[in-house]
Amino acid sequence: RIAGPSGLVMFGVTGDLARKKLMPAIYDLFNRGLLPPGFSLVGYGRRDWSDADFAEQVRSSVSRYARTPFRAEVWEQLAEGLRFVQGNFDDDAAFDRLAEVLAELDTTRGIGGNYGFYLSIPPGAFPVVTKQLARSGLSRQDGDSWRRVVIEKPFGHDLESARELNEVVESVFPPDSVFRIDHYLGKETVQNLLALRFANQLWEPIWNAHYVDHVQITMAEDIGIGGRAGYYDGIGAARDVIQNHLLQLLALTAMEEPISFDAKDLRAEKEKVLSAVRVPIDLDSAAARGQYSKGYQGNEAVNGFLEEDGIAPDSITETFAALRLDIDTRRWAGVPFYLRAGKRLGRRVTEIAVVFKRAPFLPFDNTATGELGQNAIVIRVQPDEGVTIRFGSKVPGTAMEVRDVSMDMSYGESFTESSPEAYERLILDVLLGDPPLFPRHEEVELSWKILDPFTKHWESAGKQPEAYYPGQWGPASAHDMLSRDGRSWRVP
Ligand code: BG6
Repeated sequence: RIAGPSGLVMFGVTGDLARKKLMPAIYDLFNRGLLPPGFSLVGYGRRDWSDADFAEQVRSSVSRYARTPFRAEVWEQLAEGLRFVQGNFDDDAAFDRLAEVLAELDTTRGIGGNYGFYLSIPPGAFPVVTKQLARSGLSRQDGDSWRRVVIEKPFGHDLESARELNEVVESVFPPDSVFRIDHYLGKETVQNLLALRFANQLWEPIWNAHYVDHVQITMAEDIGIGGRAGYYDGIGAARDVIQNHLLQLLALTAMEEPISFDAKDLRAEKEKVLSAVRVPIDLDSAAARGQYSKGYQGNEAVNGFLEEDGIAPDSITETFAALRLDIDTRRWAGVPFYLRAGKRLGRRVTEIAVVFKRAPFLPFDNTATGELGQNAIVIRVQPDEGVTIRFGSKVPGTAMEVRDVSMDMSYGESFTESSPEAYERLILDVLLGDPPLFPRHEEVELSWKILDPFTKHWESAGKQPEAYYPGQWGPASAHDMLSRDGRSWRVP
């Protein structure tokens, strides 16, 4: 899969995401020969930069963050297609200049009018930029050429703002030209979830309420909010990652088999299951929120959230959130899905654990099976990608003692092939016009519909989230939430 003649225009080039992920991903794709030789990247921003200054920025981020080796001849070739246009987001003249630059690239680098506009900017700026793209004629595709827009989360702040944003963007670009990035969908293991479930006979027969007791989806990070106070304060863990990444993981875990992996069929199944999610009535017992306090992560002294640069000392933004959701379908009735996400937790790990009911009867002496837990299939999304199955096995010896053991599949050991970074895959898909890994607006709105009751409840209560120490697995209330249901969180 190699992209045809095309270029990208990037808004938000000085942001963290562009520097650490997007530019390196573009270089890696180019280095792997997956982009056309004339590929061009145009930065748009307020800085007073020349093309050479922009190239210098791209080069420094590539040399620091790219995954493939730096090769001078590849860099030279890519650098010839780098341009910078200076302007504000509402600057008519600058957008007209951008149109001229693209016309020049069409002639000199054979782009054929095929451009993606990558909005790596706060959602508040989407309306003005999309309107400018329309006004300057840049969003118009002529003949066989294409124009696409790529938008980064957050897609709004709640259901209402998401609807407004979707309307604005889709009033300029037709729905199939809008690529919404949820970078978790670009991760190898997330896609493997589909292979695991639907390419095998082994799992599907037991993947339902007859056998599954509950599902736990965890996204834990050991880092704090770093330099992202401006973005994070007022957003919090639930909006930052549960609304998108975790609900996408839930959808892929719980959905029915799509009739094909075409975007239309896949999205339809995800939307069906998201529509069936029921938010519990008692929101206090079905959720927990926390905020990391000052303490030690490993051996390092770290700030509490309220001491982080740029965070208001009385901020009630949560850095940890846990929710219980139910799914009203025959397959999942009575099986809770517990989701949790947080910063400054025990370690960086994302996993989906499908925990099974206990065997209906154990023909063993109870005292001998004291260590027997519940069977589980754990899909490790990152960092140590793979799948673990946990089950009971006889302990060697003369007594009939049974204990939990694990059977492990790890990507590193099972495959020699390496997986591309999520952003590489997604940027390539944008240029190829391949939509299955991009949520459409219905999914985004359904996810907000699920999350809104929680965030609105927290906001109206106005309470400070419960403190937890760095390196722990969230606040006590998160543990209480599960113990009330007679369950406990896994320690990954
Ligand atoms: C982003 C969130 O979507 O995902 C960040 O905004 C988070 O807060 C990041 O740190 C984690 O991504 P990954 O790929 O490192 O798990």
